[in-house]
Order: sequence, then C-alpha cells, then structure tokens
Amino acid sequence: YPKLFIYDLDGVITDTAEFHFLAWQKLAEELGISFDRQFNEQLKGINRMDSLDRILELDPSLPAFSFEEKEKLATRKNEYYLELIESVNPSHILPGIETLLKANKDSNVKIALGSASKNAPAILDKLGLTGYFDYLVDASKVEKGKPDPETFTTAADALEIAYPDCIGIEDSAAGVEAINKANMFSVGVGDAAHLSHAHYLVEDTSALIFENIIEQYQKASL
Ligand code: G6P
Ligand code: MG
Repeated sequence: YPKLFIYDLDGVITDTAEFHFLAWQKLAEELGISFDRQFNEQLKGINRMDSLDRILELDPSLPAFSFEEKEKLATRKNEYYLELIESVNPSHILPGIETLLKANKDSNVKIALGSASKNAPAILDKLGLTGYFDYLVDASKVEKGKPDPETFTTAADALEIAYPDCIGIEDSAAGVEAINKANMFSVGVGDAAHLSHAHYLVEDTSALIFENIIEQYQKASL
C-alpha cells in the first residue's frame, strides 16, 4: 500500500498552468516571439529561468541577453502572472482534487506538494488547501528542477518514506519523467501525446479516483 502522494500544483490542483502560459505569451509577444500551446507543453514543470531560456531560444536572431536583463524579463513575467492569480480562491480547485486529498487523509496516506513554482505556497493558501499537506516542496527547496527527480525525492526524504511507496501526480512531461526517475509510481493528468510515459494516465482531474489509483499502483508493484 502506498504511504505518500506527491501532488504537482500548476495544472493538477488548480489551473494556474494556463496563467503561466498567458503570462509567458505576453512577455514573448513584447519581444516579438510567438509561441503556441504545443510549444508550451515543453515549459510545463520547468522553472522560471529555464522557461525563459527556452523561449528566447525560439528566436536565434535576438541579441544575447545578460543575466541581469534576463532577471528583469523573468520578473516581468512573474508580475503578469501575479496579476492573473490575484483572484484565485477555493472555487478554482480542479474537480476531484479535494475528494482525493480527503481520501488520502481517510486512508492515512501522507500528502506532499512537489512544485517547481516559487509561488506555490501562496497559491495553496489562496485555495485554502495548505492544511492538508504534510510537507511542501517548492522551487526554494531544490537545486535541480524537473525532469530531475529531486523535487519528488526531497518530499519523500523529508517524510522518511521509501520512493517505491510514493505516488506522484503530474500534468507535465518533465514532471512524469522526474517521478519515474525517482522510482515512484507516476500518474499523468492529460493527453497521451505528451504523457505516454506515465504509469497510469487519466484524461483530467475528475478521473483521479483514489481507489483506481491504488489498484493501478498495486498492479505495477515497483
Ligand atoms: C511550475 C509551472 C511552470 C512554471 C514553474 C515556475 O512548474 O508548471 O510553468 O514556470 O512552476 O513557477 P514560478 O511561479 O516560480 O515562476
Ligand atoms: Mg504542472
């Protein structure tokens, strides 16, 4: 039986993945770069600076930016993002998530957050969900972002739980890769086109049913 669920935030607990996309798109447009949702899949789960680098690489004709200039651009994106998340409240919790958190509690399965976002703890507060969590991993706690497994192993280590006893839930390709590399059971939320490497894939969060996840986990026996 699993001992810990590790939840990604953006795109799993709430739809802030969309706000990240809109904020990056706004910044990119100001730089004369256009990118679409298809490209955006590569940014999901990727930390702020690495995301910026990937966007800048889209236009090789741009002059090289200094570190300070890049910091300013990343800060500007975050300002756009903060405007978008200002009104986030408990009605923005994605379908099925609170039921799943309650099922974790009822079954004595611990709960951690595994997010690459510096804004994660504030968003969890706005959603009114912080009380469910036994441990939070955000960008401040890891050196190597997803797809490195560190985000997920950090949560398991802090709660002293063996990796095969953990289940990670992710909407990003980089995140699913990170969970798999950590030797944990990965649950992907989204499209097989991006998440075919997930041990168990569901279409959206309303399909995240505790009993089904446990059943799939037990079949996989890591
Ligand atoms: C998550 C999101 C990414 C975002 C990253 C950093 O992983 O999926 O889209 O870029 O967090 O977020 P931050 O709030 O620190 O800029
Ligand atoms: Mg995500």
